[in-house]
Amino acid sequence: MTNVVIGAGSGMGAATARLLARRGRLIAADRNLEAVEKLAADIGGDVVPLACDVTDQAQIDAVVAEIGELDAIVHAAGISGSMGTGRQILEVNLRGMARMLASVEPLLRPGSVGVLFASMSGHRVPQHQQLNDILDDPLADDFFDAIAGIGIDLDMGHGSYPASKLGVQRMARRLAPAWGAKGARILSVSPGINDTPMNRLDEERNPIMLDFIAAGPLGRRGTPAEVASVVEFLTSDGASFMTGTDILVDGGMVAVIPEDSTGGAIKAS
Ligand SMILES: NC(=O)c1ccc[n+]([C@@H]2O[C@H](COP(=O)([O-])OP(=O)(O)OC[C@H]3O[C@@H](n4cnc5c(N)ncnc54)[C@H](O)[C@@H]3O)[C@@H](O)[C@H]2O)c1
Repeated sequence: MTNVVIGAGSGMGAATARLLARRGRLIAADRNLEAVEKLAADIGGDVVPLACDVTDQAQIDAVVAEIGELDAIVHAAGISGSMGTGRQILEVNLRGMARMLASVEPLLRPGSVGVLFASMSGHRVPQHQQLNDILDDPLADDFFDAIAGIGIDLDMGHGSYPASKLGVQRMARRLAPAWGAKGARILSVSPGINDTPMNRLDEERNPIMLDFIAAGPLGRRGTPAEVASVVEFLTSDGASFMTGTDILVDGGMVAVIPEDSTGGAIKAS
């Protein structure tokens, strides 16, 4: 039995890998091979570090070939609005994840669990039916044309990041029946502002985030361990009746700052 964490090289993926490694064999994959090699050496035990860029189908196939009996797959790999163009963000966060999930599908068996990293920003995208339809077919040939066609700027990250994360939340809901038919469960988890290298970069570029943090009910960032412990639960038998839904782990932020996360890039329609 194997647990898999994609994006295990840093932040919340690394924290999740540390917890799941206690269950036995773990594949820790990341586009940053050095980071997962370091993590594996640090954790010890049966941790297999693998290079995997989720935008490259051959690298995905190489990881899937190593899995064997799939226990849980946690997909944490992602880039934020300050780390790439809109096109790159959608390619990694949504299309890369869709490719990975399609590739592990033949391995699903009773008890397998998938946990997909979304974001609280996905909860704050204005309702837009056409956008939902586009996000629900992320590997379509005309995906980027369709995204651009509704006015999302593919050079800028601010609309694409929340859209990619709404797409992840919808993916967990959409795939639940097919996974359930195999006795498997799939969920998304939506962190709020979490103290990771990604977030530190975002805060440097958008200092207004410090006001959001202060305004949140808990008045602080989450820690990677606080999200990893939720993922550990979701992948355990204790969550055996949970599937097809999103779990918000945001310290109550969406409750107090419910407004548009796209900065007007997506208008309700
Ligand atoms: N930090 C936050 O505040 C926050 C909030 C909400 C959601 N998230 C989401 O949680 C997830 C984890 O974020 P984090 O803050 O721990 O980030 P992080 O930057 O610390 O770690 C992300 C990891 O993903 C890897 N990665 C990036 N692109 C990849 C690719 N193409 N293929 C394979 N690996 C790739 C990176 O190398 C890195 O090791 C992301 O999906 C992120 O969007 C983060």
